[in-house]
Amino acid sequence: MTQAWNPDSWRNFEARHLPVYEDAAALDRATGTLAAYPPLVFAGEARALMADLAEVAEGKAFLLQGGDCAESFAEFHPNNIRDTFRVLLQMAVVMTFASKRPVVKVGRMAGQFAKPRSAPTETHGDVTLPSYLGDNINGIEFDPVSRRNDPERMVRAYSQAAATLNLLRAFANGGYANLREVHRWTLDFMGRSAWAEKFSDVADRIGEALDFMEACGVNPETLPQLRGTSFYTSHEALLLPYEQALTRRDSLTGDWYDTSAHMVWIGDRTRFPGSAHIEFARGIGNPLGMKCGPSLEPDDLLRLLDTLNPARTPGRITLIARFGHDKVEEGFPRLLRAAKREGHPVVWSCDPMHGNVVKSDSGFKTRPFDRILREVRGFFDVHRAEGTHAGGIHVEMTGQDVTECVGGAVAITDEALGDRYHTHCDPRLNAAQSLELAFLVAEMLNREAADRQRDAA
Ligand code: PEP
Ligand code: CO
Repeated sequence: MTQAWNPDSWRNFEARHLPVYEDAAALDRATGTLAAYPPLVFAGEARALMADLAEVAEGKAFLLQGGDCAESFAEFHPNNIRDTFRVLLQMAVVMTFASKRPVVKVGRMAGQFAKPRSAPTETHGDVTLPSYLGDNINGIEFDPVSRRNDPERMVRAYSQAAATLNLLRAFANGGYANLREVHRWTLDFMGRSAWAEKFSDVADRIGEALDFMEACGVNPETLPQLRGTSFYTSHEALLLPYEQALTRRDSLTGDWYDTSAHMVWIGDRTRFPGSAHIEFARGIGNPLGMKCGPSLEPDDLLRLLDTLNPARTPGRITLIARFGHDKVEEGFPRLLRAAKREGHPVVWSCDPMHGNVVKSDSGFKTRPFDRILREVRGFFDVHRAEGTHAGGIHVEMTGQDVTECVGGAVAITDEALGDRYHTHCDPRLNAAQSLELAFLVAEMLNREAADRQRDAA
């Protein structure tokens, strides 16, 4: 018998990585404020994403999920939102072309603030303070005032998420996401880069396809689909008081939805059986992501899937594999096979970021681009061997020209990491590295499409 669920039933379960707030009255005030604020998304939109993800689960579409590791108050600027959105669209066009399938675009944006940390405290010299937990909880500056958990930050995060989402909606539907324009940016961008040569063939072919459609009278003026796009938001549903405050009953279906984003996911550190985060997620109608790392056993995965998706609704669950470049081929197939054997209609997505963090010689936390690529390759190879669909990628990236991940065709060196290392948490791919990854994923998608054609013949 499943226990009754309500938006705060998670409080009866084991919660890890939740902040302790000293001032209970201040916490009540902040969550009370949020509970009275408008929802950020409408339940019908979350259902639309679920339907799109069901197509991915069936092998008819591909998922691109990406954005900051941690959004921050300091980096809140329209240009940052615009540039990340733009690079995601560019990546999507390249991958759509290669896979001949729609690409479902989901930002790690408009709510990705709270972070699970490996250590509860941080020490510099002889000073030890609580770790930074994300801008909706405390501040990144290393001083006792900033590191205090402040519930008021949730209200500020909500406002930032609302303004971000507002701009994303305007970009997606107001003409900015015009397919011709998106391709022109890619060409401009590649024109300035040393690695353009390698991908000019694909870029030229996309251009030719657009010219051909234009000649047939199909252009953004005649076909609305070329003028705009659908774009969804997502974040890790880590800070449960925030998520609970934004959880509402949908007036159309009577079901509960977490209206803080279209999709939310459960992190690798909070997806254990009996977890408060799992309890919260099981009762909301949104599409859910769940990170799957090397420590997840197939039996536990199946138990979690039964809890989160007892009706086995396609598109409900996206499993985000994050094994590491050297573990994916060994660890991932066990999980893939278990889900397949039990008939769970999941989307498998590859997060090649979180299993590939290293400390550089210069002391920065970084991710070598070749390891990221190796993990994606391994992920596609496993799917190829198992005859399943590599459903998507999940990346930490930004539209800015940062220097946080080493390598790539633009060859960020270890010494260069300090130049523009701006992330509030994990190292992100910069604009050039993101687009390069998209072209490389496109090659893999191309191969999958060719396999499919061969099998159909
Ligand atoms: C993240 O996606 O930022 C994250 C913390 O990942 P994981 O839960 O996979 O470690
Ligand atoms: Co991260």
